[in-house]
Amino acid sequence: MKLLVTGGAGYIGSICAEELLNAGFAVVVLDNLSEGHRAAVDQRAEFVKADLADRESLAKILAKSKADAVMHFAGNALVPESMKNPAKYFRNNFVNGFNLLEAMREVGMTKIIFSSTCAIFGTPERVPITEEMPKHPVNPYGESKLMFEKLLRWYDELHGIRSVSLRYFNAAGATEQSGEHHVEETHLIPRVLQVALGQASGATIFGTDYPTPDGTCIRDYVHIVDLAQAHLLALKKLDSGSAAYNLGNGDGYSVKQVIEAARKITGHKIPAEEKPRRAGDPPRLVGSSEKIRKELGWKPKFSRIEEIVESAWRWHQQHPQGYAR
Ligand code: UFG
Repeated sequence: MKLLVTGGAGYIGSICAEELLNAGFAVVVLDNLSEGHRAAVDQRAEFVKADLADRESLAKILAKSKADAVMHFAGNALVPESMKNPAKYFRNNFVNGFNLLEAMREVGMTKIIFSSTCAIFGTPERVPITEEMPKHPVNPYGESKLMFEKLLRWYDELHGIRSVSLRYFNAAGATEQSGEHHVEETHLIPRVLQVALGQASGATIFGTDYPTPDGTCIRDYVHIVDLAQAHLLALKKLDSGSAAYNLGNGDGYSVKQVIEAARKITGHKIPAEEKPRRAGDPPRLVGSSEKIRKELGWKPKFSRIEEIVESAWRWHQQHPQGYAR
């Protein structure tokens, strides 16, 4: 089976491509390299530099790839950036996703797995969050992903394109080969590890007055390899129809607990400065993954925050400049 992986040079896409190749699938990576890295693309994959905004080329690339299904990772995923530049999110996550679906329809491709996010739920009325709970995003990032999920429903109903939306909670960690390298890093774990690497003088805690036990935001961190494995299971699901699954561990860790875990693993003091809240952050996001466990047999292997931070630390130590030469 052959897969076309959009955004396969980015953090999550590159690691999912790696796991697909390990499992014996053929992979074509499509990426415009605006934020991804050529060096992150597994050497066993075919690489096509292309932009989802280019509708005409897209249909040709899809037809030529002869892929059996699409895994769609391309897009932007930073909450704070989406609050400052919403147009970038609606364009890249929604309009370009629409281009992809149209190109699929044109060439008769009928299967897609979509990188969605728990940010579609906004501030949930309770945790853990289950799939059917109300969806009221509190940032344009979550809104743009929810809009695309809605589009998928209609493309299924009216054009027979089957989809599985995987709503990631906080993807983190690394494999031996691949890890997280954003040109402008905003994510908590890599930013904290930059301090341990001596690349930053201290960590920042955004907000200590949230309604949580220690006042800092709680997130559900899911190891990138467990997340990739869910994509392999989702592929099988596509044969029996469309679905959406939440993908988290069901355990939440506060910003302070993550920093504490990083101190333990790196042996570095990691000084942390308390700053005001960051815009667009819900206080607590913890997912229920009951549905994917029950229906697809997903079993995360690395659910402790220490294991997740440790794998990221190993990669960052070996690649202190990430993918930069
Ligand atoms: N945070 C800090 N200091 C930092 C960086 C982050 O305190 O230096 C805090 C944030 O304010 C937030 C928490 O740590 O409360 C996690 O922030 P991240 O930026 O690591 O992750 P987000 O939860 O904002 O977003 C990530 C992905 C999204 C995804 C979301 C799901 O970027 O794509 O997880 O929760 F939707």
